[in-house]
Amino acid sequence: MEEELERLLAEAKGKLASASRPEEIEAVRVKVLGRKGDLNLYFGYLREETRPPEERAQLGQKLNTFKQQMEQALEESRRSLGSGESSRFPSEDLTLPGHVPVVGRLHPITQTVAQILDIFSALGFSAVEGNEVETEYYNFEALNIPAEHPSREGFDNFYLQTLPGWKTKQRYLLRSHTSPMQIHFMKEIRRQPPFQIVVPGRVFRRDAVDASHCFQFHQVEGLAVGPGLSFGDLKGVLVAWARAMFGAGARLRFRPHYFPFTEPSAEADLACIFCEGKGCRVCGQKGWLEILGCGMVHPAVFRAVGYALGTVGFAFGMGVERIAMLKYGIEDIRLFFENDLRFLQQFP
Ligand code: DAH
Repeated sequence: MEEELERLLAEAKGKLASASRPEEIEAVRVKVLGRKGDLNLYFGYLREETRPPEERAQLGQKLNTFKQQMEQALEESRRSLGSGESSRFPSEDLTLPGHVPVVGRLHPITQTVAQILDIFSALGFSAVEGNEVETEYYNFEALNIPAEHPSREGFDNFYLQTLPGWKTKQRYLLRSHTSPMQIHFMKEIRRQPPFQIVVPGRVFRRDAVDASHCFQFHQVEGLAVGPGLSFGDLKGVLVAWARAMFGAGARLRFRPHYFPFTEPSAEADLACIFCEGKGCRVCGQKGWLEILGCGMVHPAVFRAVGYALGTVGFAFGMGVERIAMLKYGIEDIRLFFENDLRFLQQFP
């Protein structure tokens, strides 16, 4: 019987090798493994055998091996024809587009920060970063913001609870602006002028969230200190930055303002990039968009960091979300923080 089985297998394999259609393979399967096929015939004989049980068991095992070999041969030939029933069609459609991997991209705020820093880098500024948790000293006092100043109120800031037993008189808070890094840079890192730095970073305020406010946002702070620096240098740097950022036609106007850490201080407005100053919905018919605060560093700040009397410098601070909203025409600040891919994927 063994020989017969071998012959049968060889014969079936021969047919399979020359099969070019699934029906031919199926015919081989039916003939050998089908209900009335060769294999079942042998099993039938086996049942009628009068040999001792061990021999019958051996024969049964041989039949099973044969069955497995046969199934394997069928499977192989099906595969080489293209799989199973659908093999009338080629198994791979070479005209399909390839698998395009999903490529990540930078968040629009990250992109805007990078662009702002690039421009200041070309103007000779280096970027440094500060901490998001500050003490009241760095966030306020050293910046000439006294204890009674309203911006220090608990309802405007995120003060941290200090652990019981923590020996510090200082209260900690999430920084409300990037200006504290001015103090760290001048006092701790002990850099002596001249230098010019920019400080990108996230800041926190207890604002109710709406289309133009959020409890967190980003700023870029600037500080330049060196002999002979004047308000003219401040204006020159910021105008050069605005032209690189918003286009060669960008115009800035400086309005007197008050900040405790600068004197004189100003707010700078950008001529509305949507209506070119004529007045529209975006600028509230004013023709100007407020984009940053700036001024000559207050002597009290230099005193706090131990610099010599007569040191001069200028500083500025801008809100990144506001600039990104203007640049890309985005009307709601919340979009930046919601992580909605439909929004984020629009920034290449
Ligand atoms: N720290 C100010 C704010 O968060 C922005 C600012 C204004 C920074 C004037 C400055 C400056 O360095 O000179 O509103």
